[in-house]
Amino acid sequence: MRNTSRFFVAPTVGLLALSLVACGSSTAEGQAAGGETTTLQLALNQTEEHPSYISLDAFGDRLVKSTDGRFDIEVFPNEQLGAQADTLQLVSDGVVDMAIVSGAQLENLSKDFIAFNLPTVFDSVEHQMSVVNNPEITGDLYSSLAESNSVSVVGGLTQGARSIYTKTAPAETPADLAGQKIRVQESELFLALVEAIGASPTPMAFGEVYTALQSGVIDGAENNEVSYFTQKHHEVAPFFSYTNHLIGLDYLIINSNTLEGMSDEDRAAFDEEWTGTYEQHTTLWGEATDDAIAGATAAGATFTEVDSDAFTEALEPLVDQFLTEPSQKKLYDAAREASTK
Ligand code: GCU
Repeated sequence: MRNTSRFFVAPTVGLLALSLVACGSSTAEGQAAGGETTTLQLALNQTEEHPSYISLDAFGDRLVKSTDGRFDIEVFPNEQLGAQADTLQLVSDGVVDMAIVSGAQLENLSKDFIAFNLPTVFDSVEHQMSVVNNPEITGDLYSSLAESNSVSVVGGLTQGARSIYTKTAPAETPADLAGQKIRVQESELFLALVEAIGASPTPMAFGEVYTALQSGVIDGAENNEVSYFTQKHHEVAPFFSYTNHLIGLDYLIINSNTLEGMSDEDRAAFDEEWTGTYEQHTTLWGEATDDAIAGATAAGATFTEVDSDAFTEALEPLVDQFLTEPSQKKLYDAAREASTK
């Protein structure tokens, strides 16, 4: 893969890659058609309770049926196949077929993805989903990494609104974050975002956050309620402050050769079952958010409203700072035009 960012570090995939090849992006005895089943391996960094695991697992169940057993999906949760920067490389190399990666990761390969990572681009989860799964808006963007990186984007799953959470006290204004080390995803935009709200950004992989909070390497992090709860971050950072600084976006990516190797019939089935997947995910998202708030509250976490105007004002310069290319502006404008607000 081409290294286009200081965040992209070629991972040490040797052993992992070998063991994956050994256990196989497998073909096995097929089901209905009596032929072979190609099992697509999908890397995920969430737990089995997370809406992404549930809806992607169900994607596989439906795909087996609608391809008469020719394709199945096996989801590997909990960063079993590596952190997102690693699994992005593994998909590019064709060692793993598919992965869920955050927009922050794709930003490191093409600056165009920044358009959908900005704080002001989406008004709601519904608005976001109507944009990121609309091929008229996303067609060129989603195929733009095929030639350079052998990565194709299938579509988007919401991360919901992201907020700050901290170890010692709520952050009601940016001033409350002064001097605090806040973990961010590995991207220039996320670094700038946390700097803009007055804190000190510390880039790190998702799976390292719990221990880093616990040991005091960081003072806080930012995420949605669902990951906050399912990753148990509330145990070590009990002050969740509703900064709602942006609506985050995950992408399902697939190795381009794998996608191109599907027959038209199987590709049509794959696309249809993907639609069912993001729809189910969106429905589950609301319920999982409520459950996460209830669960974390019962365990002693607090959820605090903040001075939203102060945070909005602090973040305002980011759009002009990061939206510098006509191709990015085109995507941003298309997203804004789809707003019903
Ligand atoms: C969310 C998102 C993940 C991402 C994580 C993070 O949980 O769904 O894809 O990795 O945030 O902050 O790293």
